[in-house]
Amino acid sequence: MAGVFVTGTGTDVGKTYVTAGLIRALVAGGRAVEALKPVVSGFDPAEPEGSDPAELLAAAGVALTPGALERISPWRYAAPLSPPLAARREGRELDGTAVIGLCRERVQAAGDRLLIVEGAGGVMSPLDERLTMLDLAVELGLPVLLVAGSYLGTISHTLTAVAVLRAAGVKVLAVAVSESLDAPPLEETLEALRAFLPGMPVGAVSRGGTVPADLVGLVSAL
Ligand SMILES: Nc1ncnc2c1ncn2[C@@H]1O[C@H](COP(=O)(O)OP(=O)(O)OP(=O)(O)O)[C@@H](O)[C@H]1O
Ligand SMILES: [Mg+2]
Repeated sequence: MAGVFVTGTGTDVGKTYVTAGLIRALVAGGRAVEALKPVVSGFDPAEPEGSDPAELLAAAGVALTPGALERISPWRYAAPLSPPLAARREGRELDGTAVIGLCRERVQAAGDRLLIVEGAGGVMSPLDERLTMLDLAVELGLPVLLVAGSYLGTISHTLTAVAVLRAAGVKVLAVAVSESLDAPPLEETLEALRAFLPGMPVGAVSRGGTVPADLVGLVSAL
C-alpha cells in the first residue's frame, strides 16, 4: 500500500502534465499504478477528452469509459471554479469529508499498486466550504509531490507551499518545476529553489519534456 499526493503551488501549474508523465514512466518501468483525481471542476461531460481524468487514464493505459471516469473522478463539476463553488452552481454541496473517506478507501485497497492522487488547484485550494487540499493531504498521510511552475513569482509560491505543508506535518517528497510559458530561464529558477530548500529534490520538467528519472525513482521507491 503506497501512494503519493500531487498538489501544486496553484491551479494550472502543470500538476496533470507532470502526473501523466510520472504515470507513463512508472508504467514503462513495470510498476502497477492507479490514478485518482477525486474532484474535478471545469469538466464538460459532453467532451471528457482532454480533461484531467482523461489525461490520467490515458497515461495509465485505461480506456475512457463511463465506469473508468466514475472511478477516477467521482466528483465532477462543470464550472471552471473552485470545487465547492462549482458544486454550488449546480445546486449541489461538496462534502470534503466524503472525499477524504473515498480517498482513504482507495489507499487501503491499493494493494501493491501505487496510488497517485491529484488534488485540485493549489495546497490551500478549497476542498469544500470548510476544508482545503491541505486537510486532504494531512488526512491521507501520503507524501506529497509539489508541482510548481517556473513563472516569475514561483519561488515565493513554492517556498510558501513547502512551509505550509511542513508546518502541517506533511512530508514533501520532492518539488517538480514544470516549465511555464514566458518564464525566466528554468535553470536559474531551479538553482534559486535548491538554495532555499537544502536537501529537497527539485526536478525540472521542461516544456514538452518528460519527468526526470530521479523524480520517477523517488516515487517508484514508495
Ligand atoms: N512542462 C510542460 N510542457 C508542456 N505543457 C505543459 C507543461 N506543464 C503544463 N503544461 C500545459 O499547461 C496547461 C496547464 O497544465 P496542467 O493542466 O497540467 O495544470 P494543473 O496544475 O493540473 O491544472 P488544474 O489546477 O486545472 O488541475 C496544460 O495545457 C498543460 O498541458
Ligand atoms: Mg490538473
